[in-house]
Amino acid sequence: MDEQDKGLGFRPRAVEDYFDPDLNPYMKSHLEFGPEVISAEDGPTFKGRWHEAFPARPGPRPELHLEIGPGNGFHLSGMAALHPERNWLGIEIRFKRVVLTARKLRSAGCENARVLRYDAHHLDDLFAEGEIDGLYVHHPDPWKREKRAKHRLLLRPFAEWIGRALRPGGTMRIKSDFHSNLDDFEGLIEELPLRVVRRVDDLRAQGLPWPEEDDVTTNYQSKFDKRGLPVAAMLLVRD
Ligand SMILES: C[S@@+](CC[C@H](N)C(=O)[O-])C[C@H]1O[C@@H](n2cnc3c(N)ncnc32)[C@H](O)[C@@H]1O
Repeated sequence: MDEQDKGLGFRPRAVEDYFDPDLNPYMKSHLEFGPEVISAEDGPTFKGRWHEAFPARPGPRPELHLEIGPGNGFHLSGMAALHPERNWLGIEIRFKRVVLTARKLRSAGCENARVLRYDAHHLDDLFAEGEIDGLYVHHPDPWKREKRAKHRLLLRPFAEWIGRALRPGGTMRIKSDFHSNLDDFEGLIEELPLRVVRRVDDLRAQGLPWPEEDDVTTNYQSKFDKRGLPVAAMLLVRD
């Protein structure tokens, strides 16, 4: 855990004045960063019109691809560079990681990407039905112990939200070191309009469920790779 973030925990909502800027300087600096950062206050104002959060460009309206918990922004900036024709949005709860992601977006020159400081447990505040074309969740729930299980993202309310917010035909990609979390998730989408296209339990050994050239290794994925631990990957589609 980052030193600056220690003790802040996962708050139920994005309430800026909940935090003490002396304790966490990123609380203030993320608001001053520039166009790459969208504040928790502004986030919900883009509901149903997220294309307005990005520079306008000629041609058809770009697809909206959303990464939840981009961490240091390595994957988000990499994918935004691979797909300049799409708009990319990261949703990150931790102030410091919002700034780290924004720095990566800026240094990669990604005008088609933004990072929003928000709590992903409240995604209905942010997106209209069918507004998302692609969803990416990587190593979302580092808490293995049952005590923290209620804080996990890959639970029924999140699955139901995906069924509403992802457009029909839209895809979701998950990478995780926490295999039983994926088993649970597969179980709870059974009655939802979401289908597993392919799952691998060790992406190094079995290959990715999507094209290798359409992928960027995430920071956490690299950590598990270096320790020789398997990372699972799952591709889902919204029916
Ligand atoms: C284990 S890290 C993985 C980071 C990155 N996805 C990767 O694979 O390297 C989980 C990330 O999700 C973020 N996160 C956790 N809970 C969140 C929430 N409720 N809303 C938004 N981001 C969250 C954390 O701050 C952290 O950056």
